[in-house]
Amino acid sequence: MTLPKKILLVEAIHPVAKSRLETDGFDVHLLTHSPSEKELCELLPQYNVLGIRSKTQITSRVIESARHLDCMGAFCIGTNQVDLGRAQVEGIPVFNAPHANTRSVAELVVAEMICLARQLGDRNTGAHKGDWIKSAEGAKEVRGKTLGIVGYGHIGSQLSVLAEALGLKVIFHDIVKKLPLGNATPMANLEEVLRLSDFVSLHVPETEMTKNMIGAAEFAVIKKGAYLINASRGTVVDIDQLVLALKNKVIAGCAIDVFPEEPASNKEKFQSPLQGLANVLLTPHIGGSTEEAQYNIGVEVAESFRKFLLHGSTSGAVNFPVVDLPPMRKAQRFINVHRNEPGVLGEINAAISAHGANIVAQQLSTESAIGYIVTDVEGGNIAQLVVDIGRLPRSLRTRLV
Ligand code: NAI
Repeated sequence: MTLPKKILLVEAIHPVAKSRLETDGFDVHLLTHSPSEKELCELLPQYNVLGIRSKTQITSRVIESARHLDCMGAFCIGTNQVDLGRAQVEGIPVFNAPHANTRSVAELVVAEMICLARQLGDRNTGAHKGDWIKSAEGAKEVRGKTLGIVGYGHIGSQLSVLAEALGLKVIFHDIVKKLPLGNATPMANLEEVLRLSDFVSLHVPETEMTKNMIGAAEFAVIKKGAYLINASRGTVVDIDQLVLALKNKVIAGCAIDVFPEEPASNKEKFQSPLQGLANVLLTPHIGGSTEEAQYNIGVEVAESFRKFLLHGSTSGAVNFPVVDLPPMRKAQRFINVHRNEPGVLGEINAAISAHGANIVAQQLSTESAIGYIVTDVEGGNIAQLVVDIGRLPRSLRTRLV
């Protein structure tokens, strides 16, 4: 009898991940802290799978001590903490959950639109200090106003639906042609969005093209009295120009969740030239930080582990060729990771044929240095076949699933 795969989850990953994996018979161990490089190197030889969040650093030294790992999961959005290239050449797919917090970000933006339109941040701070500022001046409803969404991807399009439900008119700009949801209207360019919108909300990734995409030229065309919201990436807005636009009353306020420089931990002090300005909401990069998002991340990465360990599917991996063969019926399945060089497929299939096995289904995909192949076969001695394919000179790892 083969022992169940042992899975180590560190950094207090949401318990739903453990319960989901245990349902399939995996042996799951939890740690609440983020282990150091040394601790990981000592621990990992006992495990087949590792799950981390954003603090644990997976260096090439850690991967060296864990070459036998089947896969890894970053139970978060980013994967900068993992040496992805090294994991790839060792044949270890790394999974994450990039869209588990989409709804959380969209809801925060909806709240921010109302807070900005009613100057809630300033009224709240005033009331806490004993100031009673009962006035309708400058306070508005969001109903009937125009929301301009820049970047109509997962978050932008989700926000589009929520905003329309509140009675806003939605326009958007994306560099890729996108299907407008509901009554949203695509605009030809960013400038049109800036000219027409009462609220501008940014939902683009951090790229060379989006660096300072809202700067002096954009504040020169933005609708006077508009509100700017940035819950995407800190580099997208030129903060000095934003401060000028606020001080010169070009815009009536802003809500900023992400900053060019952010404290590395809750223990560090946060500083920004936006602090102390009127109708400016500042939040510590919490757009996606909700209990629901943590739950969703736990479910999504656990499901990726399951599908990879039980069926060989790599969809959702950030450093690996994607293969997603439907679950096998009667056939037996094995996976093989190999160096991406000409002729490997021929060698594998020659070995299958030499064992008298018949290929029922096969899917190959390659990325950079490696190729990944999932094969369903009937007949032959599968256990010996897997051993022989594993011995081929360019095989990195081969496993029966
Ligand atoms: P996504 O990849 O689904 O959508 C991004 C969209 O932006 C795509 O449709 C893309 O075509 C478009 N785009 C790219 N460059 C553009 C440009 N120059 N002009 C116009 N459109 C452009 O990404 P998703 O999941 O919607 O995330 C959007 C942003 O939100 C990302 O920067 C992400 O890092 C950030 N984010 C922030 C969180 C927070 O806690 N504040 C949490 C989650 C995501």
